[in-house]
Amino acid sequence: MFKTILYPTDFSDNAGKSIDYLKELRNAGAAKIVLLNVIHQRVLDTLETIHKAAYFQDGRYHEDREEAELRLVQERKNKMAPIAAELEAVGYEVKIRIEKGYPFREILKVEKEEAVSAIVMGSHGRNNFVKARIGTVSEKVMRRSVAPVLLVKR
Ligand SMILES: Nc1ncnc2c1ncn2[C@@H]1O[C@H](COP(=O)(O)OP(=O)(O)OP(=O)(O)O)[C@@H](O)[C@H]1O
Ligand SMILES: [Mg+2]
Repeated sequence: MFKTILYPTDFSDNAGKSIDYLKELRNAGAAKIVLLNVIHQRVLDTLETIHKAAYFQDGRYHEDREEAELRLVQERKNKMAPIAAELEAVGYEVKIRIEKGYPFREILKVEKEEAVSAIVMGSHGRNNFVKARIGTVSEKVMRRSVAPVLLVKR
């Protein structure tokens, strides 16, 4: 029933709480996890601004911008490695994806592309506002996904 599970993470403690549940789902027949992190469009826009400034100083705008983005992707992959190892240790096949854009859109895109049977994610993430009953990413995913969503509470 839950063969392939999508686990989107922003590397927050709240998202990290999903890992224990993912391990349990292995006993319910889950076999593959797609680990996803989305580099937020805001971050990419900030890079753009910073490196535009760099361009005016040394004339290397394009190269710097691309290098910075590659570094960012590599950093995210490095952060995924221990999570993947932990899940592989309980017998999962793990696929890592780093996408760029708006988190909820990318999560829904990957849901379709990977034909996932369930999504497991935090009810909250990095912002973790005390008064927020639910995070904006988890709310949008929950409303629009086809697959059932397990929101792990903070
Ligand atoms: N950039 C991201 N990449 C992958 N998954 C994400 C990303 N951002 C959020 N998530 C997933 O969504 C869950 C809920 O996070 P969400 O961003 O909705 O809450 P928040 O950060 O507390 O509030 P806000 O709506 O202010 O961002 C996280 O636990 C994580 O599973
Ligand atoms: Mg967030």
